[in-house]
Amino acid sequence: MTCTPLISVLLALASMSAIAQGSAIFVGADLQLGSQLIADNQCVACHQRKVGGDGSAIYQSSGRIDTPGALRGMIEQCNMELNLALFPDEVTAISAVLNRDHYRFK
Ligand code: HEC
Repeated sequence: MTCTPLISVLLALASMSAIAQGSAIFVGADLQLGSQLIADNQCVACHQRKVGGDGSAIYQSSGRIDTPGALRGMIEQCNMELNLALFPDEVTAISAVLNRDHYRFK
């Protein structure tokens, strides 16, 4: 029983760091799933063919994608155009990973 307070502090810290990962619309997103989906759907391979390097130059936070909602909307559009058949929570997960790694919207 003596260690209960410590555990709740650790749990509180863990959930705070998840929230710190960015925009409200991405709270609770499954980042591991998002990374996996990005790997599984050739996102990076195709972007590399377009812009070279590691492909990340395609992500332009100062371009037309200027809000978290626009980012998610773009992924939804790719989902339909590329016929990826992603579920809404998968689109959110992908968006959250791109936001964490590239766009960094708050
Ligand atoms: C068949 C090639 C191809 C695949 C596969 C692809 N993309 Fe793209 N993506 C592009 C191209 C080309 C652009 C740039 C479009 C433009 O400039 O009009 C782009 C642009 C984007 C952008 C917008 C970048 C910006 O800031 O303007 C995002 C976000 C994105 N892709 C995410 C993804 C994700 C996530 C996946 C995988 C689920 C994916 N793409 C799969 C070709 C692809």
